Amino acid sequence: MFEPIERVPGDAILGLIQQFKDDPNPQKVDLGVGVYRDEDGVTPIMGAVKAAEKQLIDDEATKAYIGSHGDPQYGEHVLKMVFGAESAVLADKRASATQAPGGTGALRLAADFIASQLPGKSIWLSDPTWPNHLGVFSAAGLEIQRYPYVDAQNRLDFDGMLAALENIPKGDVVVLHACCHNPTGFDLSADQWQTVLKVLKDRELLPLVDFAYQGFGNGIDEDAYGPRLLAENLDEVLITQSCSKNFGIYRERTGCFIAVARDTEQMENVRSQLAITARENYSNPPAHGSAIVATIFNSDALYQQWHDELKTMRTRINDLRKKFVAGLEPHGLADRFAYVAEQRGMFSYTGLTEDQVKTLRDEHSIYMVGSGRANVAGLNDANMEYVCNAIASVVK
Ligand code: LMR
Repeated sequence: MFEPIERVPGDAILGLIQQFKDDPNPQKVDLGVGVYRDEDGVTPIMGAVKAAEKQLIDDEATKAYIGSHGDPQYGEHVLKMVFGAESAVLADKRASATQAPGGTGALRLAADFIASQLPGKSIWLSDPTWPNHLGVFSAAGLEIQRYPYVDAQNRLDFDGMLAALENIPKGDVVVLHACCHNPTGFDLSADQWQTVLKVLKDRELLPLVDFAYQGFGNGIDEDAYGPRLLAENLDEVLITQSCSKNFGIYRERTGCFIAVARDTEQMENVRSQLAITARENYSNPPAHGSAIVATIFNSDALYQQWHDELKTMRTRINDLRKKFVAGLEPHGLADRFAYVAEQRGMFSYTGLTEDQVKTLRDEHSIYMVGSGRANVAGLNDANMEYVCNAIASVVK
């Protein structure tokens, strides 16, 4: 029975983890998968997370199921983080939170929800986007369409994006990245979000906002500008949220699918469907990550510690962006790569071609995604010059 089954190549991003591990070169540099790294190249457990875990060992009283919507406390905290504690959306009880196994699990919930409850609607993804968006949405049977996001000079193509949005059939779903666009690092300005809002409203499109990097761009509230604007001004908005990056709990699979509806009644209807979707997928989400997040939010001291640690990570990445551009100055390449300092979040769309990325990997043991996406957090003072020299050698 298994004879016709073909072997397929593994996931391009996750595959880099193994390739990097297998590379014996002591100078190797990992700019691949999107996990934060500190100055020593380590993905640390945040101090607030460790402290919360210690507390949980003593306080956790049961391992019974937490229900298809997950831990209600976690849901409440996430809603406040995403919308702001004073949000009218929350006061009006228009938003429902369904805890999910990571941001990817939340995307799959969203995809299954759209496929079953909004049949016939296509889903529009930025070009480029996180490659697994294509995998998750097509696995749910959705028809995928693209809108442009980056131009030939490797700049945000807002005019192209807008022109495409203006022609999307009424009722289709548009995926937007709230901040720290993956893979490009190019984010929309406040004015651009306002323009997008107008088009979504005029054309009656349903936004699905992927919010995987809150706090990694400019700050918790600053990064939430887009999703807050849309939720306050549109009847219906879908949001997929992740705590993988901002709490550094990647492997604990801690995310949330948020549905904003016109009123409480419709929100409860949608929510009832989501419980079934979750049940049919994995029944209940895992509990450890959400317990960590809730414990941190329940303690002023732990919250402050987490907030400070997140700021340290964000500041380090933004400093590395500037150092990278400065490091290319002696090669006469600072202008060419100036956009790296403007981009936000973990990733930079470097503009390097697939061949250049391959040469960097084969000849210099520098690993990044084939599209030219580099994880800026993989840079540090020790490898910066090495990476800049290597990039200069492949570009020239
Ligand atoms: C990434 O884009 O590298 C991260 O979101 C990890 C992943 O699952 O691909």
